[in-house]
Order: sequence, then C-alpha cells, then structure tokens
Amino acid sequence: MTDIASSYRRGVPLPQAYRLLNHGPTVLVSAAHGGRRNVMAAAWAMPLDFDPPKVTVVIDKNTFTRTLIEASGSFALSVPCRVLADATYAAGSLSGAERSDKFADCGLAHFTAQRIEAPLIEGCVAWLECRVIAGPHEHHHQQAYDLFVAEVLAAQADERVFADGRWRADSPPELRTLHHQGGGAFFVAGETVQAKKPAA
Ligand SMILES: Cc1cc2nc3c(=O)[nH]c(=O)nc-3n(C[C@H](O)[C@H](O)[C@H](O)COP(=O)(O)O)c2cc1C
Repeated sequence: MTDIASSYRRGVPLPQAYRLLNHGPTVLVSAAHGGRRNVMAAAWAMPLDFDPPKVTVVIDKNTFTRTLIEASGSFALSVPCRVLADATYAAGSLSGAERSDKFADCGLAHFTAQRIEAPLIEGCVAWLECRVIAGPHEHHHQQAYDLFVAEVLAAQADERVFADGRWRADSPPELRTLHHQGGGAFFVAGETVQAKKPAA
C-alpha cells in the first residue's frame, strides 16, 4: 500500500522514544503471525523506561490482537491523530477474530515495520516497534493483569508533529493526538503550557 505521509516520517533516537507516549495518547496496537495480522485500540499504554526504552500496554485476553502478540512475541504501537478518530474507535469496537481484513473494515491502511512483522498504521503520527519481554514475572503480569511489558526496538514520528525530541506546539490541528475519555469521545491534544522552572 502507498504511504502518503512517508515523506514526513523520521527515525526517533531510542532514548527519546518514551516521549512519544509521555503525554498519554490512545494508540493502535498491531500484531502479525502466520499470515494473519490485526489491529486494536488501546488507551492503557505508557512508557516504562528511558534507555533501552520500554513500554507497557494492557491487552485483554478476549482480543484477537493478543493471540497474535503471544504467538509472535512482538507488537507495534502507532499513535493516531484527530483525522483517525472514527477509525480508532472502530478498531476498538470490532474484533478481527472473524474478519479477513479488519484494517480495511476500519478504514486503516498499513505499511511495513523496520524490525518486526507487525504492520505500522498509515496516517498516524508516531510509531514504536516493540518486542515482548517474556520472563516469568512478566508472564505473571500478563496473566494476572493483562499487562504486557516490551522493549522498543525502533521508533519513528511525523516531523510535522514531533521534532527534536518534543511534540510541537505548532502542529496542524488535524494531526494532534487522541486521548480517550470513554464511549468514543476523545480529547484532542492542544495548547502547550511551559511551566516556569522552580527556583533551586
Ligand atoms: C478508545 C479505545 C481504547 C481501548 N483501550 C483498550 C486497552 O487499553 N486495552 C484493551 O485490552 N482494550 C482496549 N480497548 C478495547 C479493544 O480495542 C477492543 O476489545 C477491540 O475490539 C479488540 O480487537 P481485536 O479482537 O480485533 O484484537 C479500547 C477500545 C477503545 C474504543
């Protein structure tokens, strides 16, 4: 598939990758295994460490995406923006378990990742390629809390929205990230307020 925004995509140095999730955006989680691929929405994703960067995401046992993550040991997080609000809600409402192409059903296109099999989602503004950490403690957290811990292997962002390690205050409104309130209602990222450095 053609990626219309590929000319704006830039690699993000791994020590800066945590910043892509630092402000709590809703993400699209994608995974692939054995010729199947899928995507779902997740609001419960966050950074866990700086370098090497790690993330956590809650993936319910009933999701088809989780089946593919457990089989492949990897997943991608793509950060959608305002223009993808309907598609993100669709990805969080439909299941790919019995669909031949959930991406198309949700109006989502995808492109090839650099380090993992899972596809990345076109039209998003940041992308993190993640390998699940599969130790006994992590396995317990997966079973008990649906909590996946993963290392970030590669990160990219749209330079119109994220540059020099920061989300830009002057990004176009349609490219701003989504923050789920519930029931398909999202806040859209907006004003940046730079707090004054406290006196030492
Ligand atoms: C905005 C939004 C955020 C969501 N966040 C999460 C989440 O953090 N974790 C989760 O397990 N499910 C979450 N869901 C629900 C899944 O996306 C949903 O169960 C999805 O249909 C699973 O798709 P699948 O079976 O094709 O993998 C969310 C849904 C929406 C609409």
